[in-house]
Amino acid sequence: MEDRTPRREDLDPIEIASRDEIMGLQLDRLRWSLRHAYDNVPFYRASFDAAGVHPDDLRDLSDLAKFPFTVKQDLRDNYPFGMFAVPREQVARIHASSGTTGKPTVVGYTARDIETWATCVARSMRASGTRPGDVVHVAYGYGLFTGGLGAHYGAEKLGCTVVPVSGGMTPRQVQLIEDFGASTIMVTPSYALSILDEYREQGRDPRESPLRVGIFGAEPWTNAMRQEIEQAFDMHAVDIYGLSEVMGPGVANECVETKDGLHIWEDHFYPEVIDPVTGAVLPDGEKGELVFTSLTKEAFPIIRYRTRDLTRLLPGTARSMRRMEKVTGRSDDMMIVRGVNVFPTQIEEQLMATPGLGPHFQIELTREGRMDVMTVHVEAAQGPMGTDRLEQAAQGLKRRIKERVGVSAEIVAHGSGGVPRSQGKAVRIVDKRPKG
Ligand code: DLL
Repeated sequence: MEDRTPRREDLDPIEIASRDEIMGLQLDRLRWSLRHAYDNVPFYRASFDAAGVHPDDLRDLSDLAKFPFTVKQDLRDNYPFGMFAVPREQVARIHASSGTTGKPTVVGYTARDIETWATCVARSMRASGTRPGDVVHVAYGYGLFTGGLGAHYGAEKLGCTVVPVSGGMTPRQVQLIEDFGASTIMVTPSYALSILDEYREQGRDPRESPLRVGIFGAEPWTNAMRQEIEQAFDMHAVDIYGLSEVMGPGVANECVETKDGLHIWEDHFYPEVIDPVTGAVLPDGEKGELVFTSLTKEAFPIIRYRTRDLTRLLPGTARSMRRMEKVTGRSDDMMIVRGVNVFPTQIEEQLMATPGLGPHFQIELTREGRMDVMTVHVEAAQGPMGTDRLEQAAQGLKRRIKERVGVSAEIVAHGSGGVPRSQGKAVRIVDKRPKG
């Protein structure tokens, strides 16, 4: 793989500033952000008042722990624009999450917020190994989802040639990557696998593609998946993290030279990790639920937002800013199968280690009597394979899951292409258990 490490002189100075400098900046900005939320959003005024805290109570960064959390339901309760801190006329853009249940969550950006966001995504892309002048193929969905437009503005800001393809029409994705010479692709890791299949379908060697860097996020993916994609395309596969409530993609990103977790852009987002049950702030290094406070956002300041993503904070390496470990799952995605906690990424890890099976999978949960049953739908790797060998591979996966994850799973092995595909975030769990 080509060396894509950015030059140090091209980084934003704050990325490699001293911890003291970063923390000083955070304290100033945090004071502003708390005050801005309290003065302009009735929800925050009420929640701070109810907790008996005031923005002036923040003397130290650790004082943030005195302030109340914000959860997704708070955003729903204030649908659509109740959490905005500026008059609607100053909101230049709206995004919203689809919200499988109930109302979508709506977020807003001033022109300056859009600029800040573009800067964070451009920084993320540079960290991933993308350079000004590169052709960037954006296959994240455009629309209310933050992926497409977030990536787009960041790529423009970095000085790239942007190809705004969005998701879908997979054969055309391959055609455009090849014809336009895209060296960076931005897409969910699961859809990247569909594009990979399409390369092979068309009889093209993906290692001969112009791609050098893939910037993958919006859903959990494992290091095993990274290896698979890197080898298949002969390109770097780098992790980008974000969520619409906090901004969108570009809250944190891996560095191509280390690929050791995601550096959080701490000059704009203040991270905490809490015990999901007690809400207590955990020391760096301990695993829990990630919480974010925005430091610079104007239209939609967010204070101590509980992401439900599980990770831990680690010291900086390639940058001075702290890292978060690759997100292994959301608390919402945790399945409890006969008393054992299981995340889809654990299944993915075992699948990737099983020869003969492709990387696509979906988990179905059903109930038999009082027992939960987990069925993992998988499929044959591309290329000719007899049913005997496929069945053998499925049994191999079943054994691995039992031994390494500690649960019994039923495996249903389909022919190649048999697992449902998505063009954005993959649907990993289909829960068919009776409700209640
Ligand atoms: O998924 C923003 C995004 C777009 C990030 C494109 C990266 C690339 P939401 O739709 O609001 O926003 O979903 C946010 O997706 O809380 C995580 O659970 C999950 N997620 C996002 N990035 C990652 C990642 C976008 N790199 C939710 N690894 C978050 C694991 C991720 N999970």
